[in-house]
Amino acid sequence: MARNTIKAVDKHKKTYHIISFGCQMNAHDSEKLAGILQGMGYTPAGDETTAGLVVYNTCCIRENAENRVFGNLGYMKYMKQKNPGLVVAVGGCMPQQEAALEKLKETGAADILFGTHNLHTFGSLLEQALDTGIKVTDIWQEWDGSDRGYISAVRENPWRSGVNIMYGCDNFCSYCVVPLVRGRERSRKPDEILDEIRALINDGVVEIMLLGQNVNSYGQKSNDGAAFPELLRLVAGLKPALPRIRFMTSHPKDLSLELIHAIRDCENICRHIHLPVQSGSDKILQAMNRKYTREDYLSLLSALRREVPDITVTTDIIVGFPGETDDDFEATLELVRQARFGGAFTFLYSKREGTKAAEMDCPVPENTANERFARLVDTINPIALEISKSWEGRIVQVLAEKLEKGMFTGRAGNNMPVHFPDNGASSPIGSIVPVKITEGRTFFLIGEQCYQNHE
Ligand code: SAH
Ligand code: SF4
Ligand code: F3S
Repeated sequence: MARNTIKAVDKHKKTYHIISFGCQMNAHDSEKLAGILQGMGYTPAGDETTAGLVVYNTCCIRENAENRVFGNLGYMKYMKQKNPGLVVAVGGCMPQQEAALEKLKETGAADILFGTHNLHTFGSLLEQALDTGIKVTDIWQEWDGSDRGYISAVRENPWRSGVNIMYGCDNFCSYCVVPLVRGRERSRKPDEILDEIRALINDGVVEIMLLGQNVNSYGQKSNDGAAFPELLRLVAGLKPALPRIRFMTSHPKDLSLELIHAIRDCENICRHIHLPVQSGSDKILQAMNRKYTREDYLSLLSALRREVPDITVTTDIIVGFPGETDDDFEATLELVRQARFGGAFTFLYSKREGTKAAEMDCPVPENTANERFARLVDTINPIALEISKSWEGRIVQVLAEKLEKGMFTGRAGNNMPVHFPDNGASSPIGSIVPVKITEGRTFFLIGEQCYQNHE
């Protein structure tokens, strides 16, 4: 059989399974793909072993994200022999890069290849592939101006939803592939965002996360006026009120005092900010094109904590960026001690073709990077534990989401996972309930649900 045909399309079952490999935006795109598929009469299969259609929504932020996709596609080739009606689609950030696209084609496992800019056309690409029995590749180099917000998403979780407020990124941090695969920054109009959120509130959503690669620059490139702090206030002021509003990700270079004031003034904006610092060395920050210094970053934290004393700050840090010396790394450790993060995602630098950093000299040897990584984690964790312990004895509001082995799990307003026992009373799942914290552990809290007179 020729490599570009799809075997036995007539045996195809209309059940799907979507696997996301990337960030919140990637996960939310998957919910939109699910919306498109359910609109076409597909039903969820539950897993990739039984589905008629498997969709991989890929990420290429680091090499290991790509390797996971290739590993999965190897398995799909095997599954296709067992199940001739199986159709495999691969979309998202990886196919937007020429070299990765070629490698994806070489696997021979993908029947449909699509990218980030044409997610909204996925339904017609699928129909085309099934009607003709011929594999389809359709990657757009640019966005066509359509607003994907209109695609109704099928939410993974009934109570929480992401809401795109902008797409793309113009920051060109020197290590990062996102501007190359997601295109130029563009903000949605406030009215469209507010309409989408009103519909979500009517549908029972209690927590939304406003999504963008750099939410703090929302609206800066359009001329309709609203900047991010204003948008936040509009969302926070909707009636009936949304209990919880989160946003992700904030870039320190655009974090304004107005934003800090909006968080302070609006009770339903969660007391958590994810503020990636990436490095504590000014030299490395400059080479990363981050456009702030460690002092800028630390003074932002002081301003945030002055205005919103209970705020939990989390971050992202890259270890082993080209040219990072022992002194640069020590500066990162020192910043971590000063900043006192409640949590941090730590990454080994991964060279990405097409980025500025890929051309930089002085790579950090792998074993040095690994040693630094371990020391970084050993510095972050005890501080995170101290912060968790500082919650002991206090009452936090938890959106309860699941019950496992007799313990409910949910997140506090500050985004920390909280576990509390099921004591047989009515299930709190789907509601926000007060929980008294009895024990703080590294990156999570344990407590007991309060019922009355808990103040
Ligand atoms: N837009 C967000 C984050 C996007 S990617 C922001 O600017 O903060 C999430 C995280 O992945 C980044 O914060 C960075 O820490 C990490 N990352 C991005 N590119 C990377 C690379 N090439 N190697 C290692 N980590 C990387
Ligand atoms: Fe990447 Fe920087 Fe844009 Fe974040 S702000 S997506 S790290 S280029
Ligand atoms: Fe990955 Fe694309 Fe998000 S590269 S981190 S899925 S924007």
